[in-house]
Amino acid sequence: MSKILLINGPNLNSLGQREPVIYGRLTLPELEKGLSQAAATAGYELLAFQSNHEGQIIDFVHKEAVSALGLIINAGAFSHYSYAIRDAIAAVNVRTIEVHISNVYAREEFRHRSVLAPVCVGQISGLGTDGYYAALKWLVDHARE
Ligand code: DQA
Repeated sequence: MSKILLINGPNLNSLGQREPVIYGRLTLPELEKGLSQAAATAGYELLAFQSNHEGQIIDFVHKEAVSALGLIINAGAFSHYSYAIRDAIAAVNVRTIEVHISNVYAREEFRHRSVLAPVCVGQISGLGTDGYYAALKWLVDHARE
């Protein structure tokens, strides 16, 4: 079964408790479970990973992306400044969609820039956790291209 990767970066392990007005009440295990089920229904295996550490995210990309159909990544605050994660995504040549739960463009200025966006197929921001499902749907719909 082909794999779809899901990476959540720093502080996203606290989903559900962390600023619920901005990020909602769903926990990360609940989100991962729902996405795994949606992926399985479409015939794919979801491999979910969360880390608060930049190097671990890069190691995961190196290790898993070779055999993956696509990558959904919410790199949290790393999205705004991690050239190292950007280079890892660029190096592996796997279709990547950047997701942000909140609308980063309606928030502080430092969130308006993503250094990952140029190496991603696209970006989804502000749709809450539904954005992950939209990303999954796109990867599945475009799997054979
Ligand atoms: C976030 C937005 C980032 O600016 C922030 O640092 C996060 C979460 C989002 O999902 O809206 O950790 O990526």
